[in-house]
Amino acid sequence: MDGQAKRNNYLDENFDRFVGHLEEWLAIPSISTLPEYAEDVRRAAHWARERLTAIGFPEAKLVATAGHPLVYGEWQVDPRQPTLLIYGHYDVQPVDPLHLWSSPPFQPTIRGGNIYGRGTSDDKGQVMLVLAALEAWAKVDAGLPVNVKILLEGEEEAGGAAIADYVRSHPEHLQADAVLICDTHMVNAEQPSLITGLRGILYTEIVVSGAKTDLHSGSYGGVAPNPLHALCLLLGRLKGEDGSIDIPQLAAAIPVPSPADKQFWQDDPLHIEEALKAEMGVSAMVGEGAYPALERIGLRPTLEVHGIRGGFTGEGAKTVIPAEAVAKVSLRLPANLDPNEVFGWLEEAVGNKMPSGYRFHLTNLHGGRGLSVNPDNPYLRAAAKSVEAIFGALPVFMREGGSIPIAALFAEVLKVPIVLLGFGLPDDRIHAPNEKFSLNQFRQGMKTVADFLGRIRF
Ligand code: BES
Ligand code: MN
Ligand code: MN
Repeated sequence: MDGQAKRNNYLDENFDRFVGHLEEWLAIPSISTLPEYAEDVRRAAHWARERLTAIGFPEAKLVATAGHPLVYGEWQVDPRQPTLLIYGHYDVQPVDPLHLWSSPPFQPTIRGGNIYGRGTSDDKGQVMLVLAALEAWAKVDAGLPVNVKILLEGEEEAGGAAIADYVRSHPEHLQADAVLICDTHMVNAEQPSLITGLRGILYTEIVVSGAKTDLHSGSYGGVAPNPLHALCLLLGRLKGEDGSIDIPQLAAAIPVPSPADKQFWQDDPLHIEEALKAEMGVSAMVGEGAYPALERIGLRPTLEVHGIRGGFTGEGAKTVIPAEAVAKVSLRLPANLDPNEVFGWLEEAVGNKMPSGYRFHLTNLHGGRGLSVNPDNPYLRAAAKSVEAIFGALPVFMREGGSIPIAALFAEVLKVPIVLLGFGLPDDRIHAPNEKFSLNQFRQGMKTVADFLGRIRF
């Protein structure tokens, strides 16, 4: 048996134990956005550090930050070999609405070849498959083929700044020849993909105020400002029915896509549009009809309302005019844009479009730049070969609509290729009820990453 066959064998023989490890990790509710879970987030970090130690990492530690801790591991094997920096996140999204889950989000459950639970696909399952691949090398070959640094964060889902501060202040410490991130999905189980672009994000909160107190809608209706209604008007003016965003500076800053991207989006050779409709359970898409759906996800900016709070939403009826209304609004951005600059443009647009007679306040909750990867480098080529070796199909190179804020900072600070090699599937329901990860993807992912580690050795 050659080395990779032995490692694949090791991964198969120990597969149930790896699932067990993952189940342990998933049972820790590391929800980074909700302060009451801070201790669980810390426990999930400790769990990861202990795994690194068990695998054989000579250095594995928690790095304290102003927020949730980072987990850092390092294993230097040979100064002549390249160094791979591996990134992932051990925090997860909140689980509401809880009643829509078929099994409790933090009691991982296996059904029909999938493991269900919060964080299964995003991102604990994908980090765990990397740990399994590292372990296969450590145990079968008594060491790793290349030098490895691994950095896991606990604030990715909360838009936390801890890791960005750390990366900016430790560029030499983190120096590597490439960065590997397993936190995306493939086109489908038969069609793997390597991601060449991520969109940036700007996440904001808009508070609109009217009267100094809630008012009776009979005594005051007709003369009182209604912040909820003003908020709806404002949102309708920011993004029209045709999906176009009315922020002039933003419209002017959208990059011209490459002919190859445009062609891929227009032709949609993998029939992703149909798959998207099926995943969403809708018969028609909304948005900017003048652009192909894939371009709307891969490149165009978007503005989405995540939630609106205000007034009366309980059972029954209450005749009240609220004094205040709040909306959570985010924009996805082309990779070339700086979210902080876009925030200024948004503030100006909100000021211009807010109906008169209201006060408003806009807060920049967090932002992160997008990423554009040039696929012409040895690390992406190696990843493509590994994918082909394990999945039996060449990966497509394509852009993704989601955001991984730290990826852009790695590219900027370390100036090395970013390999976005994800094993999720589009119907994993990340961030939603009944998130799952296919156990077959889990297994193939381990083997692919193990193969990749061997392939980038000189
Ligand atoms: N893993 C996702 C990013 C992603 C989403 C990749 C969909 C591929 C497909 C990541 O954990 C995530 O959810 N990112 C957030 C970033 C935000 C909270 C700053 C996102 O995209 O909303
Ligand atoms: Mn993720
Ligand atoms: Mn996520």
